[in-house]
Amino acid sequence: MKKEPQTAMLGHGYHAADYHGSMKQPIYQTSTYEFPNSQAGKDYFAWATGKEEMPDGAKMGNIYSRLGSPNTQLLEQRLAVLDETEDALVFASGMAVISATMLELATPNTVVLYTAPVYGGTHSFIDHYLHKYGVIHHVVEHDKSAEEVVADVKAAYPGLLVSAFFTETPANPTMDLYSVKKARKIADALGSEEHPVPVVVDNTYLGPTMSRQHENGADIVVYSVTKNLAGHSDVIAGAATGKTAWINRLRVARTFIGGILGPMDSWLILRSLETYTLRIAAQQKTTHEVAAALALHPAVKEVRYLGNLEQWSPEQAAFFKDEYQGTGSMIALHIHGDESAAFKVLDHLKVFRLGVSLGSTESLAEHPYSMTHSKVDDPIKLKLGITEGLIRLSIGLEASSDLIDDLNRSLDTII
Ligand SMILES: Cc1ncc(COP(=O)(O)O)c(C=O)c1O
Repeated sequence: MKKEPQTAMLGHGYHAADYHGSMKQPIYQTSTYEFPNSQAGKDYFAWATGKEEMPDGAKMGNIYSRLGSPNTQLLEQRLAVLDETEDALVFASGMAVISATMLELATPNTVVLYTAPVYGGTHSFIDHYLHKYGVIHHVVEHDKSAEEVVADVKAAYPGLLVSAFFTETPANPTMDLYSVKKARKIADALGSEEHPVPVVVDNTYLGPTMSRQHENGADIVVYSVTKNLAGHSDVIAGAATGKTAWINRLRVARTFIGGILGPMDSWLILRSLETYTLRIAAQQKTTHEVAAALALHPAVKEVRYLGNLEQWSPEQAAFFKDEYQGTGSMIALHIHGDESAAFKVLDHLKVFRLGVSLGSTESLAEHPYSMTHSKVDDPIKLKLGITEGLIRLSIGLEASSDLIDDLNRSLDTII
């Protein structure tokens, strides 16, 4: 029986009777597992590596915690349910899942398409790191039609295969939106049955239930679980979700690259998921109130917030209604002034905490130009709207009145 996400996050995949009646899954703090006998060890390896099919009725055992543990497995089952897809895989960080995914998909002399901006680490990984392995990257502009993108790519790279279409939407930190339905169309036009082009979506900013990107045509959805899913600024983690065929490819990459999540961190995230839907609903409501108040302050040039899409292009506003289910807890706040004005505002905040990351219980503020996106070249940042006057806000669980007072008081210092 299919259950609502808030119910599934409490019980899906867990049977207390298998764990001595423990209401919560115990933490399997072990690196390796003892096999009942040599034949079982041989079988587990043959099944785990795909060398042999598991016979009907056979029971897989644990091997070694780099391949998985009961804690990662339960977390993966819950994440797959939450993202309404077949399978999931957890990693030691958001960058671990993004780098493993790209290394698995992108081979030398193929083209990775991606939209900009993306998180600074992803940008550096694709532009500078993948480049070392002969992977070509091509930035897809938001306002080009699917047909124009396909024509541009075919003309620019005749005879080369496209290995992935990567998009981060909403994008960190500008909140630009890219239609995943459009990405699907482009990927299908550039791929073939023999070489399908996977659409990879970084859905960290909104997260499952607020943005159901598998429905829109994504093959692999990646997360910095560090953010909304873990939600308490106390763990670094990543995940990929999707159809089993794609996830199994990433499973092989994870085994060899080795960036799996540990048992304790998996357990912490299982605990976080129990309150996920409640937290994001409360944070979304507060964000709405904070965004409305910010728009009234004279030091504010623009409040970019998904609950009010007036500043977005008509195309982005139109597909938002079709492709998204929530507005989230992020605000891109553009103030009148440069870096010194932004720093003045940030340094006067007392309730907001000055720090990177997002999606946590405490509200966070940072300066993307000099912090999260500092490694992106200045002309590119300016072209993308990452200016010195941009402050990124992540709204937590404090009272909206306290957050609004804090922002107003700090913004008053620059008028
Ligand atoms: C959108 C997005 N993707 C990926 C990452 C990387 O995640 P992690 O820090 O967990 O490696 C971040 C981190 O800020 C992010 O904001």
